[in-house]
This record gives sequence, structure tokens and C-alpha cells, in this order.
Amino acid sequence: MLAILLFVLAYLLGSISSAILVSRLFKLPDPRNSGSNNPGATNVYRLGGPFPACLVLIFDILKGTIPVWGAYFLDLTPLSLGLVAVAACLGHMYPLFFSFKGGKAVATAFGSLLPIGLSLAGLLISTWIIVVAVTRFSSLGALVTVSLAPLYTWLIKPLYTLPVTFITVLIIFRHRTNIIRLFKGEEPKVGAKKAPTD
Ligand code: G3P
Repeated sequence: MLAILLFVLAYLLGSISSAILVSRLFKLPDPRNSGSNNPGATNVYRLGGPFPACLVLIFDILKGTIPVWGAYFLDLTPLSLGLVAVAACLGHMYPLFFSFKGGKAVATAFGSLLPIGLSLAGLLISTWIIVVAVTRFSSLGALVTVSLAPLYTWLIKPLYTLPVTFITVLIIFRHRTNIIRLFKGEEPKVGAKKAPTD
């Protein structure tokens, strides 16, 4: 019963789209209809620069971390902890409060994995930074990082490999238009003026 309550709370918290709220606060274009049409930190960075993007990033990370920490302290089983993380990501991707049109949940997934430990967090951040520094594609950084996340998890906390793999599949699915643009050579690099449209 407690586990079900936490899944619902994690989904509802995930459903709060910080990208839309922060954009309203800073009077920026709606990230659902501008740039890549994705309500996430990368698109808010495109539309409004680093400060609002950082706010979105922090809020989206916390949407994953808070419910998973809560579940951990309430002594839920590892399977339930994994499902709480999945629920937070699903809330971000398909938000109840925003017509089920959400983002790609990269930051929320990262936040939900933080309680596993600093070594996993370090591996994930380093992978993202290296790929983005070399290629300048935020989406490719996310795709490579989430693809390696199940392997990293298996090496560090094997018990969580299954839910992490599920989150990986969801995030890759949400990046399908980015993948097409990457193959076509149309994905804009970080800092590029021209924005894509999903
Ligand atoms: O975290 C989202 C990122 O991987 C892609 O964002 O706006 O370029 O589709 P965007």
C-alpha cells in the first residue's frame, strides 16, 4: 500500500514540468512550441540561456531524487525503489498536469539514480561530459550515457539493473526524433543558433 502511494506521488511530482513553469517565470517562449519543442533543460538553455536552464536542471533532478530517497528511508524493497524511479520518469515524460506531453526525463532519471551512490553518479556525469565535449550534441551525450547506465549499474549495484534498463529503453524511445536528426546530420550542436523542431 505504501509502495503504491509512493509510485503515485513520484508520478505526480514528475508531472510538474519545471521547463514550462520556469519559462513562464522568465517570460521565455513555451519550450513545447519552440526550439526542439521539448520541455527540458537543453531546450530552455537554447531559448533562455544558462540561468533558467540550470533551474530546470536542478528541479528535474530533484523530481527523481526526492521520491527515491523517500522510498529508501521508508525501507521499500529494491524492486519498489526501482519502480518509484520509473514512476518519476513517466511523470516527466507523460505529465498529468500538462496534457501528457512532457520531456525526455534525462535529468529526472539521473536524479532517481543518485541515491545508488556517488560512483554511479560520477560515471554517468563523466560519460555525458566526455560525449558532449567531443561531439557538442546534448542528445548524443544523453543517448550514450543512458545506454551505458545498465552496465554501470550492474557493476556497482546489480540489483537495480532491471529498472535502470527499463528507464534506458524509455529515454531512448523519447529521443527518436533526435536519433533521426543525428543520422540526417540535422541535430544542432550545443550553443548553435539554429534550433531543431520535433
Ligand atoms: O535531455 C534532453 C536532450 O537529450 C535533448 O534535448 O531539446 O535537444 O531535444 P533536445
